[in-house]
Amino acid sequence: MTLADQRSFWLVPPAKMNLEANQVHLWRAGLSRDPAAQQAAWAVLSDDERARAYRYRNDEDREHFIARRGILRALLGSYLKIPAAEVKFVYNPYGKPSLAAVSTIDPLQFNLSHSNGMALFGFAWSTRVGVDLERIQPDRGVLELAEKYLSINEREYLAQLAPGAQTGAFFRCWTRKEALLKAQGAGLLIPPEQIEVSFGSDQPAQILAIRGGIEPLDNWYLQNVDFDEDHAAALVVERQAFSTCCWDYSLQG
Ligand SMILES: CC(C)(COP(=O)(O)OP(=O)(O)OC[C@H]1O[C@@H](n2cnc3c(N)ncnc32)[C@H](O)[C@@H]1OP(=O)(O)O)[C@@H](O)C(=O)NCCC(=O)NCCS
Repeated sequence: MTLADQRSFWLVPPAKMNLEANQVHLWRAGLSRDPAAQQAAWAVLSDDERARAYRYRNDEDREHFIARRGILRALLGSYLKIPAAEVKFVYNPYGKPSLAAVSTIDPLQFNLSHSNGMALFGFAWSTRVGVDLERIQPDRGVLELAEKYLSINEREYLAQLAPGAQTGAFFRCWTRKEALLKAQGAGLLIPPEQIEVSFGSDQPAQILAIRGGIEPLDNWYLQNVDFDEDHAAALVVERQAFSTCCWDYSLQG
């Protein structure tokens, strides 16, 4: 199977959202800094989110945070059929947000990632999800980064690729590892070199090994996300049997 076989198609979302038990919904969104969009997002944030927004010193970082929380709340509100402002979060010790108990039978799980003013959101019922999105940065020394974050096998694989293919391959590898760490919830506190993934452009996305004291390989499923040509992205889900729907937030009616 090639990456093209795993291609994600970003569709116009239906007016009424329905997330089935065996589905994962992915959303691709731009983080608008437009004053009207910012005002609308700000209106639904909680006091602690507003306090966090004030702590960003950089205007762009603050506005991107406000925009992604606004979208996250809007999407959670539509799945839970409650107003966006009523969504309540709790955080694990490593900062991963999840929903505080709400009046639904199955807990809705979610994760998000942002890069370069774009964001990726993932949602599923009763199963942990992790997503990661990174802008492919041609000016980053990926072989040096690989020394720090990739396993020996991954470094060897990367080094034998044609130089023109190394940057994209590194970011593909990186997002796949980080999506798994984010699904499990500890993030980068777990050394990424303990995870090994496939990342060749002609290989299916696969978690090949998990070493050390993190959760075992069983039941974690990795999927490439074809975000756009400037970004690498990945999804990790806790179980095998699911289908993925990809919605484009900007195409909402
Ligand atoms: C979580 C982590 C991987 C995010 O990496 P990143 O590339 O900077 O950011 P991404 O855009 O991919 O993801 C950010 C989102 O992931 C979620 N998130 C935060 N912590 C998370 C975690 N431990 N696991 C999974 N998701 C997490 C949040 O929704 C966050 O969005 P927000 O900024 O709007 O709140 C990174 O911060 C990390 O490893 N943290 C480790 C734990 C840690 O040091 N915590 C300190 C705070 S308690």
